[in-house]
Amino acid sequence: MINPLSPETLIQLADQYGTPLYVYHAEKIKDQYQRLKTAFGKTDAVFFYACKALTNINILRYIRNTGANVDCSSINEVRLALHAGFPPARILYTSNGIAFGEIEEAKQLGVIINIDSLSNLEKFGKKFGRDYPIGIRLRPNILAGGNMKISTGHDKSKFGIPVDQIAIILDVVRKYNMLIRDLHIHTGSEIEDADVFVKGIDILFEITHHFPDLEFIDLGGGFKVASKPGEKETDICLLAEKVGAGFAKHPYKNGKPLQIWFEPGKFLVSEAGFFLTRVNVLKETNAADFVSVDSGFNHLIRPMFYDAYHQIENISNPGAPLKNYAVVGNICETDTFAWDRSLNEVREGDYIVFRNAGAYGFEMSSNFNSRFKPAEVIVMEGKAHLIRKRDVFEDLLRNQVEVI
Ligand code: LLP
Repeated sequence: MINPLSPETLIQLADQYGTPLYVYHAEKIKDQYQRLKTAFGKTDAVFFYACKALTNINILRYIRNTGANVDCSSINEVRLALHAGFPPARILYTSNGIAFGEIEEAKQLGVIINIDSLSNLEKFGKKFGRDYPIGIRLRPNILAGGNMKISTGHDKSKFGIPVDQIAIILDVVRKYNMLIRDLHIHTGSEIEDADVFVKGIDILFEITHHFPDLEFIDLGGGFKVASKPGEKETDICLLAEKVGAGFAKHPYKNGKPLQIWFEPGKFLVSEAGFFLTRVNVLKETNAADFVSVDSGFNHLIRPMFYDAYHQIENISNPGAPLKNYAVVGNICETDTFAWDRSLNEVREGDYIVFRNAGAYGFEMSSNFNSRFKPAEVIVMEGKAHLIRKRDVFEDLLRNQVEVI
């Protein structure tokens, strides 16, 4: 197991590159991928990194070098993956609600495509018939995931074609003699319970016999990582065991055994990421002792948007007595990172680190309040490399057209 970056290293990086700063520990990403490979050692499983979690081109290249494939959710992510050197056969494009033109573009680029609406399935069939294999994203009507904002497989969700519309799906597929190579589901993020995946397998295998050309079943991502001390992550060994048994229970009648695909995002990059900030202001009030850092939900939106818990530490004053604080940002809107959080006594100028910031951290950042987006650094083989410069003032004006 790879040790996390030490507080001393993080302080050095904050001194050198300034704050706010995202830092990624490369070997931790490789370690997480290896853990999956080892857990699924007896299973024919392939992993596609859901790059919506973090798309820095260096992260994509690093992940390509680990041997993992990549899962994309927009044509620009597909282009980034190609730019990072993934061959099209290792790029999966799981689209949602997109214009047909983007699917055509993905086909032209030669990547693997999952289609998630009857409308696009029909258009694809009409135009390409059996010329190009595709997968179908289904909505299995399973409620799973950490909270409703990150649940995608339930019966009110916009994602996938509802599995109860199978008769219509089959009409389209047969009408155009389409080549369906995989069935896909993704039920949510932060799924701790391995049985959710087994339920998905049971649902899919009720219909696999309708598709004689299947080669793989794609169970999506959603493996949970621990965000609080003592919290559990998805037990990936148990998951591998249960998924293996689930597949064994339902042999695919039409041909060879089906390969199992997964699309982990958080599991690969969340724990590798640290978000470093600096304390601007301390404010003691009757409500709380506020620690205002030089960031906000413009840089790390997860606490405000999903009520996500990030472990927070004052790395500048270790050993000092613990006190309770409200950790907040500096933007002109309520942006609470944590309420009533115990930290070593905080002084203005101290560095405050947020853990588990690799997934959906920088990736969901914005320039709200006309603040600069943070810089990004990767630490690899013990050496730090700047992989994204901090914005400068010109970036705020770059695409604006000054007509007045
Ligand atoms: N596959 C598909 C089709 C997805 O939509 C997603 C994530 C994944 C895989 C990867 O899921 P993961 O392994 O990362 O849980 N921004 C939210 C998470 C939204 C996930 C969206 N889809 C957050 O910060 O918690």
